[in-house]
Amino acid sequence: MNYSDIEKLMNPIIKNFKIYDAMPSNETLIQKYSINSEKIVKLNGNENPFGPAPEVIDNLINIPISTYPDPELIRSRKSLSEYTGLNIENIVVSSGSDELIDLFFRIFVTPGDEVLDFTPTFGMYAVRAELAGAKIVPVSRNIDFELDYESIKQKVSDKTKIIFLASPNNPTGNESTLEDIEFLLSLNKILVVDEAYFEFSKSSYANLVEKYNNMIVIRSMSKWAGLAGLRVGYGLMSKELAKLFMGVKNPYNVSTVAEESLIVSLKYVDKLMQKVDEIIAQREKLSDALDQIDQIKVYPSKANFLLCKLDDHDIQTINNELLSEGVFVRLFATKGLEKCFRVSVGSAEDNEYFYTKLQKILKI
Ligand SMILES: Cc1ncc(COP(=O)(O)O)c(C=O)c1O
Repeated sequence: MNYSDIEKLMNPIIKNFKIYDAMPSNETLIQKYSINSEKIVKLNGNENPFGPAPEVIDNLINIPISTYPDPELIRSRKSLSEYTGLNIENIVVSSGSDELIDLFFRIFVTPGDEVLDFTPTFGMYAVRAELAGAKIVPVSRNIDFELDYESIKQKVSDKTKIIFLASPNNPTGNESTLEDIEFLLSLNKILVVDEAYFEFSKSSYANLVEKYNNMIVIRSMSKWAGLAGLRVGYGLMSKELAKLFMGVKNPYNVSTVAEESLIVSLKYVDKLMQKVDEIIAQREKLSDALDQIDQIKVYPSKANFLLCKLDDHDIQTINNELLSEGVFVRLFATKGLEKCFRVSVGSAEDNEYFYTKLQKILKI
C-alpha cells in the first residue's frame, strides 16, 4: 500500500493538520543554525533556571517504576488539596496542563463547534481546537493586551463551547481582572482559566470553581516547580466535572515518577517559593534594564518572561545574532507580534549575558 492510499483512510482533519510549532530542543537549534558559541543561554521555554527542588532529585532513586501508577492519583490529589485549599474531589492530575487542554476538546467539542481565545495568547488552544475539528474564533486583545468586551460579545455564538483565558497570559505577561472573569462567566460557556504562571503573579481565581460550575482552572508544575521534563499539571473544577475528567483520561496518564515528584515538590513549597521570588526579582531587574534601551518597548509582566518589541529592527536579524551568541529567545508568527520576542527570566548570570549581547547587537 502506498502512502496516498493510506492518506485516503485518514480522518481529513488529521490529513490537513498543520503541526504545532513547538519549541525545538537545544540540539536542534544548534544544528539548524550551526551555532558554535561555547555558551548556550536558553531563554525560550519559560523554564525554571533553578531546576526542581533538590529533594525531588534525591527521591528519584526510591520511586518504583516496575508497577503501574495509581489511576486515581490519590496521593498527589491529596497534596494538591493542601496546596490549593480545594477538596480532592475538585482536582484532576494530568500529564502537563497540555493534556487537560486536549481533554476539554474531547469532552465538550464536536466538529463545527466554536472555541474562543484572546490573541495574542498561548498557541496550543488553537492547534488542539483545529485537531478536534472545532473552529477557533480569535478575539484580539486591545493595545495593552486587555480584553475587549464588545468584540467578545460580538464573537460569542450559540456554537461557542469553550472560552480559553490565560492569566497571566503567554506571551504578553499581563493578568486578567476579576471583572474580566465575571464578564466571561456571564456568557454561560465553559470558561477555562489557564493559570500556568500564577505562582509568579501570586493571584489566582481558583476559589471560584466551587461557586461556578462552568469554570475550570488549569495549572502547571512545569514553571514554578521546575518539572517541565516530567510533564505534570492539574485542573481544578466542580466535583461532577472532575469525576468525568477522571473517567475520560487515560487511566495511567501521569507516570509514577511525575506523581511522586509533584508530591515531594509540594512538601518543599517554601523553598521553591524562595526561588520563585528570586525569579520575580530578576524579572523586575531585567525589565528595568531593558526599559533603559530606547529601541525596545518592554511590556509589564506578572509571569516569568518578558515580551519585548523592537519597532525599528528586523526581528529575524536580531534573533539570528542572538542565536550566534548562543542566546535562545522565542519569536512568534502571530499577528501583532511580528516585531516582538519573548525572553524567559533566567538566572542572574544568564540574564546578564543576554542583556550584554543584546546591547552589543543594538550597538549601544
Ligand atoms: C499559558 C500556558 N498554558 C499551558 C502551558 C503548558 O504547560 P505544561 O508544561 O503544564 O503542559 C504553557 C506552556 O508553556 C503555557 O504557556
